[in-house]
Amino acid sequence: MRDVLTFHGVTLRYLSDRGPVTAVESLDLSLREGERLVLLGPSGCGKSSLLAAAGGFLRPAAGAVLLDGVPVRGPGPDRMTVFQEFDQLLPWKRVRDNVAYPLRLAGIGRREATARADALLEKVGLRGFEDAFPHTLSGGMKMRVAIARALAAAPRVLLMDEPFAALDALTRRRMQEELLRLWAELRFSLIFVTHSIEEAVLLGSRIAVLSAHPGRLRAVHVIPAGTDDAERARMGVQLRGLLLPSDAPAEEMTDA
Ligand SMILES: Nc1ncnc2c1ncn2[C@@H]1O[C@H](COP(=O)(O)OP(=O)(O)OP(=O)(O)O)[C@@H](O)[C@H]1O
Ligand SMILES: [Mg+2]
Repeated sequence: MRDVLTFHGVTLRYLSDRGPVTAVESLDLSLREGERLVLLGPSGCGKSSLLAAAGGFLRPAAGAVLLDGVPVRGPGPDRMTVFQEFDQLLPWKRVRDNVAYPLRLAGIGRREATARADALLEKVGLRGFEDAFPHTLSGGMKMRVAIARALAAAPRVLLMDEPFAALDALTRRRMQEELLRLWAELRFSLIFVTHSIEEAVLLGSRIAVLSAHPGRLRAVHVIPAGTDDAERARMGVQLRGLLLPSDAPAEEMTDA
């Protein structure tokens, strides 16, 4: 499989009041076409920073992020991000227009943008809600809109930053299953950030484990297609052993 997005010796640094903060140190990692790559690690290890770099919002202090071999220089509709927050939708736009908006910005005509928006809304189970405003939707429904919006742009990479972390347990489980169902249909290339081990083994086809502050790549686990639940659970136990003793307080890494 060819590489879609590559972190090549990436170091990410912020300037804070107390001086420079290194969030990620010399990370080498590639996302292959059509895979579901999970970034797993404790709070503060630089997961969101890596997604920001992939999205083109944060420039590496060293190294480079490559999309199809070309250095990323800024944001673009070829890399769409879904965040954890429910307020990532534009509140004054109807659901359909929220989904169509990036397409319109990319120069696609109203008719085609609307058709693509409606098609994706149907895929995420929101048929009938095209004309609703975001404030009338539940958290789970808002997340579906955000996913539809990201996928409508047919990005080279879908970036998801703990998208289900704020949902109740049942909705979260349903959204995880729906994401897998959408992936089986559309086969997008996904980088999914989480600090939940259970979510990582459920969703990933590969799991990159990061160590705490500054984030470094610690291990990469492959989960072959067809791995059953029992085997995934065993991998979860292994990952817990790897992550818990030195890296994070238990409550940070054991949530469902
Ligand atoms: N804008 C910023 N200015 C200064 N430091 C920052 C900034 N954003 C992040 N950091 C620091 O960079 C490090 C990595 O942060 P990041 O948000 O990428 O971690 P994370 O793995 O996503 O954590 P979480 O699981 O809590 O979301 C942290 O030490 C954080 O304090
Ligand atoms: Mg984060």
